[in-house]
Amino acid sequence: MNLNAIETSTKGLSFGITPYSVTIGGEVDGIDLREPLSDEQVEDLRWALLDRKVLFFRNQNISTEQHLEFARNFGDLEVHPFAPHKEGHPEVMAITHDKNRPGAENGWHSDVTWRLEPSLGSILRCLESPPIGGDTLFSDMYAAYENLPEVVREKVEGKFAVHDFEGFRVRLRAQGASEEQMAEFDEAYPNPEHPVIRTHPETGRKGIYVNSTFTTKIVDMKRNESRALLSFLYDHIASPEFHCRFRWRNNSIAFWDNRCTHHFAINDYHGKRRSMHRVTVCGDRPA
Ligand code: SIN
Repeated sequence: MNLNAIETSTKGLSFGITPYSVTIGGEVDGIDLREPLSDEQVEDLRWALLDRKVLFFRNQNISTEQHLEFARNFGDLEVHPFAPHKEGHPEVMAITHDKNRPGAENGWHSDVTWRLEPSLGSILRCLESPPIGGDTLFSDMYAAYENLPEVVREKVEGKFAVHDFEGFRVRLRAQGASEEQMAEFDEAYPNPEHPVIRTHPETGRKGIYVNSTFTTKIVDMKRNESRALLSFLYDHIASPEFHCRFRWRNNSIAFWDNRCTHHFAINDYHGKRRSMHRVTVCGDRPA
């Protein structure tokens, strides 16, 4: 594997950061999210996010308002149209699993790619972690792209793929959504086509931008060829060399760049409770 070395150590930041793997993940030390951030801290966090792709924070016993306030430093906030939210706080997605609702985010994905303008990033806070298990894996899409065989790169360069919220459709129907409501959702969120290889709007780097949770097919390609190519890309993305792994504790936070990472929440805590709040920052149209 050809993994681009990290830059973090070469820049003086206003906080400490400990890398989690060669190219992805860094734990931030020396920031208290109960306090408003200075302009310098926000700028440094933006820089560190672009460099490390996912930032981790520990021991952040913050309120919902402080969680929202932190996220607003990075842009406007999204409201998820299908997922449950904290009462009175539509921007706070409540992700709760227990013995009656087993973990469901255990497929590689980048958030809401079924939107025309998928999110810039997500800020996930752990309210209650299982005693063991329930870690989240993150995968670096630049590294995955840069390590594609040339023959595959040539096949996917310039191609577009369709993204769909089918998994939510199944859940909505199971919850009793009417066909009229389903038609309204389909109209509000028509399946977008995004480039298979996305150029990050801030770094200019290229990364793989298809995922097994929401991508259905590559446009203008025979069905069998599209299936085979997507399947190759999904296996490739799952290579551990591109990953880091985060072990949650109560009041841990992960802030990932949705434009160049995928994540996978490991569902190995059957019967135990895992409760998270996610606040998501609006993004732009992938190019
Ligand atoms: C998500 O997919 O946004 C949730 C990830 C997690 O719960 O670790």
